[in-house]
Amino acid sequence: MSTNKVALITGANKGLGFEIARQLGQQGITVVLSARDEAKGKAAADQLKAEGIDAHSVKLDVNKADDIAALPAFFEKNFGRLDILVNNAGINLDKGLQTSPESFRQTYETNVIAPWFIARALLPLLKDSPAGRIVNHSSILGSLTILSTEMRDAILPAYNSSKSALNMLTVQLANALRDTRIKVNAGHPGWVKTDMGGEQAPMEIVDGAKTAVTLALLPDDGPTGGYFHAGQPLPW
Ligand SMILES: NC(=O)c1ccc[n+]([C@@H]2O[C@H](COP(=O)([O-])OP(=O)(O)OC[C@H]3O[C@@H](n4cnc5c(N)ncnc54)[C@H](OP(=O)(O)O)[C@@H]3O)[C@@H](O)[C@H]2O)c1
Repeated sequence: MSTNKVALITGANKGLGFEIARQLGQQGITVVLSARDEAKGKAAADQLKAEGIDAHSVKLDVNKADDIAALPAFFEKNFGRLDILVNNAGINLDKGLQTSPESFRQTYETNVIAPWFIARALLPLLKDSPAGRIVNHSSILGSLTILSTEMRDAILPAYNSSKSALNMLTVQLANALRDTRIKVNAGHPGWVKTDMGGEQAPMEIVDGAKTAVTLALLPDDGPTGGYFHAGQPLPW
């Protein structure tokens, strides 16, 4: 069994997922970068290895049930443990009021259904960890309170509602696991310069990763079932 803590980060071949893996790795955690494109996942892990991080990769298309089903055996065999799951992979296909039914379905598959079933598959391993942590990468755009007040112009019906649903799943899972050591929280990274966030985003990736990293490393007396940005609770 690995003596290091082990973390799985989904959608880690680029963007925030890659940087979250790097920052967890810099804290001495063994990181497993998952990507739907196996070669991109390996290249990303190799880049972190070259920086001195204990990095590995695994193929995971979060929408493929077989890929999810293979995860527990992968961690059992290679590390004998899993301590941290960061459900980071996400998509935004919205075109405002013109968003198609197919885009809705794909968005919900990736942003809502996948994180739930990935977490569920890995619960037995996470329950064995002394400090199991699940971080769901949400968005401020999932806040019903903020979207009905100061952000009324953000019309992204599939993406925004998928993040509201992910927030609810965070609460559901935290409640279901309240008698365990596992903590489950949702994090908003900020508006970050990535392929999704765009060049005009004000926040650099290195700063955007910090919320998820903090939630992944919460102490035993830290919160569960919450929704946070930069250490502060967000309104649901
Ligand atoms: N950037 C922001 O401003 C911002 C703000 C709030 C929340 N977030 C959230 O933060 C997370 C990361 O976003 P980002 O800005 O880093 O976006 P990004 O640069 O577009 O990266 C998204 C990642 O998700 C992966 N992904 C998408 N569908 C997948 C699938 N079916 N299976 C496996 N991986 C899949 C992508 O893989 P491919 O390379 O193969 O496409 C990529 O690695 C998302 O959940 C997003 O909603 C971002």
